[in-house]
Amino acid sequence: MEGNKNIVRDGSPEDGLIDRKEEFIALKESIDLLETERKGNVVIVYGEAGVGKTFLVRSLKDYIEAKGFNWLECICVSRDSEPFSPLKESFSFFAEQRERPYLNLPISIRMLHGKSEFADLDEVFNKSNRTIQRAMDFVEDITHTTPMVIFIEDIHLADKYTLLFIRYLSVNIDNYNLLLICSYRPEDATDNDFLKETMNFMYHRKMYNEIHLKPFGIDHTRSLISSVTGVDPPGYFVELIHQSTDGNPLFMVETLKSMLFNNIINPAEDRYISEMDKIEWPPVVRYTVERKISRLDDPTKNFLQYISVLSSDFSFSLIAEYVNMDEMDVLDIIDKLLDTDILKETDKSEMYRFSHRAVKDILLENQSSNKRRLLHKKAVEAIKTCYKDDLAEHYDILGYHYMSAGLYDKGLEYYHKAARKYEDDNKLEKAIDNYLNMDSLIQKYGISEIDVGDHLERAGELSYKKGRVLIGEGEIEKGREYIERAMNLFERAGIEGRMGECRTYLKDIV
Ligand SMILES: Nc1ncnc2c1ncn2[C@@H]1O[C@H](COP(=O)(O)OP(=O)(O)OP(=O)(O)O)[C@@H](O)[C@H]1O
Ligand SMILES: [Mg+2]
Repeated sequence: MEGNKNIVRDGSPEDGLIDRKEEFIALKESIDLLETERKGNVVIVYGEAGVGKTFLVRSLKDYIEAKGFNWLECICVSRDSEPFSPLKESFSFFAEQRERPYLNLPISIRMLHGKSEFADLDEVFNKSNRTIQRAMDFVEDITHTTPMVIFIEDIHLADKYTLLFIRYLSVNIDNYNLLLICSYRPEDATDNDFLKETMNFMYHRKMYNEIHLKPFGIDHTRSLISSVTGVDPPGYFVELIHQSTDGNPLFMVETLKSMLFNNIINPAEDRYISEMDKIEWPPVVRYTVERKISRLDDPTKNFLQYISVLSSDFSFSLIAEYVNMDEMDVLDIIDKLLDTDILKETDKSEMYRFSHRAVKDILLENQSSNKRRLLHKKAVEAIKTCYKDDLAEHYDILGYHYMSAGLYDKGLEYYHKAARKYEDDNKLEKAIDNYLNMDSLIQKYGISEIDVGDHLERAGELSYKKGRVLIGEGEIEKGREYIERAMNLFERAGIEGRMGECRTYLKDIV
């Protein structure tokens, strides 16, 4: 087939559910139980915002409807809403969808049907006496002849009565012809004692099965990117998207859609980005991040703002030095940030990073440029104190902080030191990156008058060397790119002889 490279999409993953096989099967089995044994079941689906709870459960809708079962979904929007409001609303909607069939339903529903649906549901779902029992009787009636799947989304925002209803329904679920699926976001439930109590109650009585949805790994990230763009993405782009979104499907889909729309990437022309700071976060990602941050207390928010200037991974000792706080207080705040999934631990002990690059970017953007500069200066001091015994390992990070603090000459000096150090350690790519970093900063800030020495020539030499190594290993195309880059760098550095050598070498490998 003519490569699918030409089929470029700009929308959601229409090809359906990616990954989630086990979870899908588990839910299907619960649905089958309704059919074979008329046995009710409760499933709790949980995971971070955008991880795919709604998408997973909705993907079962066709299966449910093909069996002739009823499907009802509702969403909780506020703990302070009217008692039962999500259920009342969705049952009203359900009733309106089904004018005639009511005649076949049990007597209690027919009676309800005689009056206005809203008024009757008000009676059923009412916080006055015996109300939970009435609500449960209602559900028993409505599921009597035809099995039903009720999906209650976001129960971390459920009013108390809805939670009580879920709790008592679970106690008796065997008697109902009902699959009750509830979803929630743990990060939004940390202060919801009633939800915790409800879950504990149900958990200890083993009244539900749970599905914990986790973000995508690298393989499913690749599938999702192909599904959104219609093109098989290159490895470095898959890595970039996975690293910057931590595999969160919502973040990935929305960011890809926005990059396609704004022509930041164009898969049909094999044009992608390779640097995280080229990513622009779309509104839905911003909203999700800001909602998450807004729920934190003020000291934690301030702390987060401070550490948002630190580059990628940071150690506990660096944070403590930098924020100048008591270590125990720092530990408490870090615990909170780990609980809410804003920070995560890395493979190395006592090292942390932001779970989502978007959180760091948005925190940074929300600060004034003066404050940012001051924080970068503070970061320089903290790094110098904290890592005084092995400062050379941190030259590139110091370069970054100096540049961001507006101290360009110092920034260039440290990028240069870092490049030299990587050269000595024979880490060619990192050395080239640092020299090129210097180059792009010199151009960006127009700081040509500062004597930064031989960065172009060194970057050229190392690119030439790397290119020859790659070609020697049979990676002709990649090697050629390095040699071409070397040629370009020698040209800019005015080193004619080396340019000629590159040209000859390239001719010889044709
Ligand atoms: N398994 C999946 N396969 C393909 N796309 C997915 C999958 N899971 C999620 N997505 C994409 O991510 C988007 C967000 O998913 P969804 O709305 O289900 O998240 P959620 O966990 O319900 O989030 P919230 O907690 O904010 O309600 C979906 O609209 C879809 O585009
Ligand atoms: Mg959802």
